[in-house]
Amino acid sequence: MLNYYDPKQTPAPQHFLPERDYGTPARLSETLVSLEIDGVAITVPEGTSVLRAAALADINIPKLCASDNLEAFGSCRLCAVQIEGRRGLPASCTTPVAAGMQVTTQNARLAKLRRNVMELYISDHPLDCLTCPANGDCELQDMAGAVGLREVRYGFDGDNHLDAETDDSNPYFSFDPSKCIVCSRCVRACEEVQGTFALTIEGRGFESKVAAGQSEAFMDSECVSCGACVQACPTSTLMEKSVIEQGQPEHSVVTTCAYCGVGCSFKAEMQGDRVVRMVPYKGGDANHGHSCVKGRFAFGYATHPDRLKTPMIRETIDQPWREVGWEEAIAFAAERLKAIQARYGRESIGGITSSRCTNEETYLVQKLVRAAFRNNNTDTCARVCHSPTGYGLKTTLGESAGTQTFDSVMQADVIVVIGANPTDAHPVFASQMRRRLRQGAELIVVDPRRIDLLKTPRHRGAQHLALRPGTNVAMINAMAHVVISEGLEDREFIAKRCDAAGYQAWREFILDPRHAPENVEAITGVPAEQVRRAARTYAQAPNGAIYYGLGVTEHSQGSSMVMGIANLAMATGNIGREGVGVNPLRGQNNVQGSCDMGSFPHELPGYQHVGDPAVRERFEAAWGVPIDDEPGLRIPNMFDAAVAGDFKALYVQGEDIAQSDPNTQHVEEALRSLECLIVQDIFLNETAKFAHVLLPGSSFLEKDGTFTNAERRINRVRKVMPPLAGKQDWEVTIDLANALGYPMHYDHPAQIVDEIASLTPSFTGVSYARLDALGSIQWPCNAAHPEGTPTMHVEDFPIGLGQFAITDYVASDELSNRRFPLLLTTGRILSQYNVGAQTRRTHNQAWHDEDVLELHPADAELRGVRDGDWVGITSRAGQTVLRARISDRMPPGVVYTTFHHPGSGANVITTDSSDWATNCPEYKVTAVQVEKVSQPSAWQRQFQTFDRLQLQLLRGARDEAARPPAAERANE
Ligand code: SF4
Ligand code: SF4
Ligand code: SF4
Ligand code: FES
Repeated sequence: MLNYYDPKQTPAPQHFLPERDYGTPARLSETLVSLEIDGVAITVPEGTSVLRAAALADINIPKLCASDNLEAFGSCRLCAVQIEGRRGLPASCTTPVAAGMQVTTQNARLAKLRRNVMELYISDHPLDCLTCPANGDCELQDMAGAVGLREVRYGFDGDNHLDAETDDSNPYFSFDPSKCIVCSRCVRACEEVQGTFALTIEGRGFESKVAAGQSEAFMDSECVSCGACVQACPTSTLMEKSVIEQGQPEHSVVTTCAYCGVGCSFKAEMQGDRVVRMVPYKGGDANHGHSCVKGRFAFGYATHPDRLKTPMIRETIDQPWREVGWEEAIAFAAERLKAIQARYGRESIGGITSSRCTNEETYLVQKLVRAAFRNNNTDTCARVCHSPTGYGLKTTLGESAGTQTFDSVMQADVIVVIGANPTDAHPVFASQMRRRLRQGAELIVVDPRRIDLLKTPRHRGAQHLALRPGTNVAMINAMAHVVISEGLEDREFIAKRCDAAGYQAWREFILDPRHAPENVEAITGVPAEQVRRAARTYAQAPNGAIYYGLGVTEHSQGSSMVMGIANLAMATGNIGREGVGVNPLRGQNNVQGSCDMGSFPHELPGYQHVGDPAVRERFEAAWGVPIDDEPGLRIPNMFDAAVAGDFKALYVQGEDIAQSDPNTQHVEEALRSLECLIVQDIFLNETAKFAHVLLPGSSFLEKDGTFTNAERRINRVRKVMPPLAGKQDWEVTIDLANALGYPMHYDHPAQIVDEIASLTPSFTGVSYARLDALGSIQWPCNAAHPEGTPTMHVEDFPIGLGQFAITDYVASDELSNRRFPLLLTTGRILSQYNVGAQTRRTHNQAWHDEDVLELHPADAELRGVRDGDWVGITSRAGQTVLRARISDRMPPGVVYTTFHHPGSGANVITTDSSDWATNCPEYKVTAVQVEKVSQPSAWQRQFQTFDRLQLQLLRGARDEAARPPAAERANE
């Protein structure tokens, strides 16, 4: 029976501002301490501060320099208390509780002290409260009220900081030092929460002041604009420009960031249906109140003038668009799809789901393909990023997902990061990792580049295995060889948890001398002793955790490498408890979810194979149609079939294949070959320029649903404003299904989740009501795990025993040769997101307004290339031109670029070489030549012409729609 969630009866939690601040962080000690505060008895964990204990007893002690996400500092003295038997008036934020302590928080002596403290602060503070942007949200103002300050005796004419100049260099927040009370909350937030150490307190006594970097402007400093200092500031010194411009928000709704796979929870703080600011939510289980520049500040794209708001259709891609109503656009699309199937057959059409859309939307698109198109031609953008994770982890551990929570890293003694750049791609988790590194965990990075994590402040030296691109499998085999040949394996774990025959076969394979680090050195370029040391460090640690990214999966041996990682973790017993595990860092916000929801052509939701008759029977009974038992086409197969003339129509929701998929020229040829391309997106993206039907999408702020992050955590997405085009994405898919003659009806996404739960064993316990009650849920969530599963494989694996896999190293076809002597690898940077469609329409452009080619100084010198020169990059697939950036982050022989700007054409160069098991493209290894040039490539010139034409055709449609009707024009 469906467990229908009625949003009217079960309102989404509205969190009004501000959230409770308990003054100092929670302590987790199991030893409890009892004391009395103002006569109220309270028992708290040992190590808790008196300030926090009082807050827990609902006794509010005034405070300014303390905050419950920062260690106490004890500088303002406002939180002073009297403790029986102790001399003086100690600061309650830095005083830990003690058994039998008797605390007084209010008396005349304390009141006088606090008033004096406030008087000193106010005497050096502008008295412009009524016009101050923090008016109504200022802790200094609140404290002046709380201590009953009525006069300031010292006057304002002595030395002061009231004329200090404002730093407006950051596009999102300003720094007005005249308002600063030097509480150092910002400095500590930058250190403790973010881990960047960009701020300091310069000078002493009255001269002390906050400075970014070496007294630089914020934009010139190390600051990465995470916003933690702005969040921490009790005054308006550090303040969001959006609040300065628009005023204080009046209500807020908790929702989930739509950028990366960390899945941070935010309070969308609103005035009416306008977002004033996004504030990281302290109750968020993935982020605990932290954020990065994207989720915190880069939300302006949602109301950017480029947003598509009206459906559009056209017969051919060189015709102008015609704006039409929803009904006409849907009817046009459905008629075309039906006609194409009638002419070319059932298999001639397909759909692509989006890892940026919600689980509910993704589920509906694959259901549309299977139930209305009546084939399995559905795939998702995870094909080009983490499909090897699905294959590799399912084969070895029995489940296509990471094993841990993010918080688990706080129990890790050794952290291994392979082919990932968390400070740029998963920044909030990177901050947590850095916190653990500062506490003393060891770090091993396996990556060709010297990623920023290696420069973690206040962390002792990390181990960096700077291997050649494309040699991951050789490296992981060498590490496993060390573990087994030196007897470092966990025999008890292997005997109890793993398949004995499989292990024996793998053991013999891995002991072969060809895997010895000394023999692999020539392949990876990493000295054998470094590999031995890293393998020993990982194997001998009480808890060793592996985190990996696209530098593992986007290879011709991506699936082998994922299995190699799982082999190593099983061999060392690093599975099934906190602090260990195998953890893919998922790129986009809902990559995990789009895979879970049955987007792949061979799997129904919950990774249930279409070839299994019992599975099909359940879905057929629920959906009322027969389901094809043959897997459908993967994205690259769709392109090949389109070019061959066998595949004629495609429905793409929220995915820009023309920019994100490899070998752009082949993709463009495929898109041009289609007779009907239906694109549903919030902008006219690169794919939409080849479309015949444009269905405006809704941003994450405009819809209800759920995202599933890299920890398998299902988080609620809540609608905070009406959809600009009038429909949420799930409603559009329903309309298309109905127009195709397949009846679909849901009133709310909660009903879609109920249907998913009824058909998917790992989701049976998931519902909106339970999500609202628990905040978030990590699947599997079912009768056995009603509140979800934070750590996987604790007792056993879903396949019973862990399966070791043979992972022979096979050199990539892309290995460099005389014609293409360099290896190109691609990736992301912090400020931009994926194809850049969202972040390019925000102030994040200030950090990265073009993609550049990074190359080592020796490679540059050999080619006569100077920093900033235009260079042509040529591979066997194509050529593009970028500006050069000379960087010693790169090893010699390896060049790097990002793919955030469409005109850069990074994917013109990447080839269609792909993972042997899943077809995930080999983005991380392309053999190229680089040379100085003076003009854009032929592809870039052609791109510019086509881009101009398509924008003109779009503008034409908008101008036409804005014109008065012909009759009115005649009267003008
Ligand atoms: S925005 Fe973040 S990185 Fe920048 S100074 Fe503030 S806390 Fe540090
Ligand atoms: S900028 Fe804000 S948080 Fe930082 S020291 Fe000044 S008042 Fe405190
Ligand atoms: S870390 Fe990822 S989920 Fe969190 S705010 Fe940044 S982009 Fe959003
Ligand atoms: S809040 Fe305790 S000293 Fe400032």
